[in-house]
Amino acid sequence: MDKMIIRGGKPLRGSVSVSGSKNTALPILIAALLTDEPVRVRNVPRLRDVTTTLALLNELGARARWTSDHEVEIRAQRITSHVAPYELVKTMRASFLVLGPLLAREGIARVSTPGGCAIGTRPVNLHISGIRALGAKIQLRNGYVEAHARTLKGARIWLDNPSVGATENLMMAAVRASGHTQIENAAREPEIVDLAAMLGAMGAQISGAGTHVIEIDGVERLHGAEHEVIPDRIEAGSLMVAAAITGGDVTIGNAPLNHLEAVTAKLAEAGVEITPTNGGVRVRREGNLKPIELRTLPYPGFPTDLQAQMMALLTQASGTSVITETIFENRFMHALELIRMGADILMKGPTAVVRGPAKLEGAPVMATDLRASMSLILAGLAAEHATELGRVYHLDRGYEALDVKLAALGAQIERVKEA
Ligand code: EPZ
Repeated sequence: MDKMIIRGGKPLRGSVSVSGSKNTALPILIAALLTDEPVRVRNVPRLRDVTTTLALLNELGARARWTSDHEVEIRAQRITSHVAPYELVKTMRASFLVLGPLLAREGIARVSTPGGCAIGTRPVNLHISGIRALGAKIQLRNGYVEAHARTLKGARIWLDNPSVGATENLMMAAVRASGHTQIENAAREPEIVDLAAMLGAMGAQISGAGTHVIEIDGVERLHGAEHEVIPDRIEAGSLMVAAAITGGDVTIGNAPLNHLEAVTAKLAEAGVEITPTNGGVRVRREGNLKPIELRTLPYPGFPTDLQAQMMALLTQASGTSVITETIFENRFMHALELIRMGADILMKGPTAVVRGPAKLEGAPVMATDLRASMSLILAGLAAEHATELGRVYHLDRGYEALDVKLAALGAQIERVKEA
């Protein structure tokens, strides 16, 4: 397993560019199952989760392949399997998103349930009740969701909470259902808006994406399309924190500032200088960081996927910060590793109290998920001596060439391949 060795203390300087969004690319690639015509997707990040998605699509009978560095072509002329096996779904929960499109196109799907996750229980009950509302018969057998529907019928669906994945799965099922579907209390994330744009390009009739109510009029067929994935707001936010924690000066190209309002507001409150540039943002920090209060919320609130990175940053603020995680019930695993590096963090339930500034010292550390791993890299960039991050495969699931990008900004970071 690879390791990352980071030697901290150098302010990052220079320019870097944000890759395509992981959490947008995954559902968009899966949406290609809805048509037998070719679909071409540009700005797809080279990530392990994308590789897993392409493997899943191929497993179902589609031909999914890279046609250039960041472009994928998928042709699902025929679907030859209706099964998303446990082995794939357990390595990537987003695989569960094939349920909606398989059912819409083939009337049958057998998809493994994803099981627990390092950051919370993450049930799929809202996906299932929504698909049931569209008229599918569903049963749970041997750890698989088995769904059948001769035809899906449009329905009014209320989501108990605005789940991103459930909204995506239901959109992909409803676009080919007969009649009208209304998804209420839908997720409003930019990933939803981009998926709706892709489905629209394929001929779907969708309105309201980006608001709480999504309206869909089912169509009989979808056709091929071309689409460019939006830039990754979480990667952009992570790089912004990297500039801030090192007291650096970094220009981040392709940063989708319009998707980062809560993040820029909180960074500015902490004393980070943020200047929009042509197509991106310049992030500088000279003075001390100030403590802040932060609460994760569904979009447009502060994203849970940047909470761990902000916690690393706030260990360096002069005073006491309070972080409340409201989306996932177990998303503070990075705090324990940050404490091992010298951070002063107290946790009680969904709240973490971070007292700074702490003198961070490099240490061997390990994380249980993608964003927690990023948080430890950030801490390593601010720490004295070397930090050795294990289980780098978590990072490779969601950050494209992160070590290369940080090294180009002057970070001392090295990937060590282990046999
Ligand atoms: C997406 O996960 C992202 N993943 C996550 O990013 C992100 O953290 C999350 O949205 C929230 O923004 C992808 O897009 C592939 P949810 P998703 O359904 O769709 C509860 C990362 O690091 N819930 O919006 O699985 C759930 O338990 C990852 O890139 C139900 O109760 O998240 C959670 O508390 C991690 N029942 C809340 O909703 C359900 O059926 C939000 O989850 C579904 C969800």
